[in-house]
Amino acid sequence: MAPVATAKRELEAGEAQVSARRRVEEEPTDCGDASAAATGKAAGKKTEEEFRNYTDSERHAIVEETYRKMHVNQTFDFVKGRRAKWLKFDHAEMTILDAIELLDGLVDDSDPDTALPNSIHDFQTAERIRKDWPGEEYDWFHLVGLLHDVGKIIALWGEPQWAAVGDTFPLGCAFSDKIVFPEQMQLNADSKHPVYSTEDGIYKPACGMNQLVMSWGHDEYMYEMLRKNGCTLPAAGLAMVRFHSFYPWHTGGAYMRFMGEGDDELLKWVKIFNKYDLYSKSDAMPDVQGLKPYYQSLLDKYGIGGKCRF
Ligand SMILES: [Fe+2]
Ligand SMILES: [Fe+2]
Repeated sequence: MAPVATAKRELEAGEAQVSARRRVEEEPTDCGDASAAATGKAAGKKTEEEFRNYTDSERHAIVEETYRKMHVNQTFDFVKGRRAKWLKFDHAEMTILDAIELLDGLVDDSDPDTALPNSIHDFQTAERIRKDWPGEEYDWFHLVGLLHDVGKIIALWGEPQWAAVGDTFPLGCAFSDKIVFPEQMQLNADSKHPVYSTEDGIYKPACGMNQLVMSWGHDEYMYEMLRKNGCTLPAAGLAMVRFHSFYPWHTGGAYMRFMGEGDDELLKWVKIFNKYDLYSKSDAMPDVQGLKPYYQSLLDKYGIGGKCRF
C-alpha cells in the first residue's frame, strides 16, 4: 500500500470534519451525567462527527469543570513552577511498559470520547497506526502511538487532572479564541498581563514552535522525559508527543505566526498523528499481553527499553 498518499487523503477529509466537530462556541448545556466515568463504560462505536463534542457529551460536566480549572490556573508563572518540579525526574525509575500498566488506574477527565483506562488507549492508538503504516520504515510512528499519553502518569503522582490532561496552549502571549471553552480564558490572570496579553507577547514572529512555553501537562512532561532518557525517536515523533494536544494550532490554525524553519513538516506529522489519537478510541479492545513483545523491541530500538527516570 502507499500509506503516505492514503493518509494524506484521509487527513484532508478528516480535517474538515474535525473543525466542523469543534462546536465549542455554542453555549454548553447541562448534561451532568458523569456515570460513564464512574463505571468505566466504553466509548462504543462512533461516527467521526461524534468525537470531541464539547457541548453535550455524556461526560460534559466533568470535562467542562476540568477545563475551567485549567484555564483559570495555568498561567506563565504556574508553568515555570511545574517545570522546575517535574523536570528533575526524581519521582520514579521504571520501564515504560510498567508505567503504561500503572495508567490502568487513570481515566482522563478532559476527554469526552472515552472512559476507558488510558493504557488501553495507548495500545489502540499504536495498533491503528501500525495497521495503516506497516513495516520497519514507520516503526517509530507505532512507538509514538504507544508513548504519546504515558506522561499522564503525573496525574497518578498527585498532579491534578487540569495540569496533566486536556488540550494545551502557549503562555506568554495572547490567548487564541481557538482554545476550547474560550470564554474561560478571561479568568486567567495572564489575560490582563501587560506583556503576556499582547499578540506576540514574549515571542518574535517565526521564532519556531519549539520556543513556545506550553501549558503544563502530559505532552510537555513526556517530551522532556523522552529527551532526558536518551530516546532516539525522529524529530517528527517528538513533535507528535509534544504537540498532540495543541488543538488550537494543529486543528484550529492559531499561532501560525510563530512557525519557523522545519515547522511545516512537523505540523504535517502532528496532524497525521491526530486522527489516530482521536478515532482509535472506539476500536476493539487490544490484546495487550500479546502486543508487549513487539513494543518492547521498539522501546529497545529507540533507546528507552530499560528503566527510565520519571
Ligand atoms: Fe494526550
Ligand atoms: Fe491520546
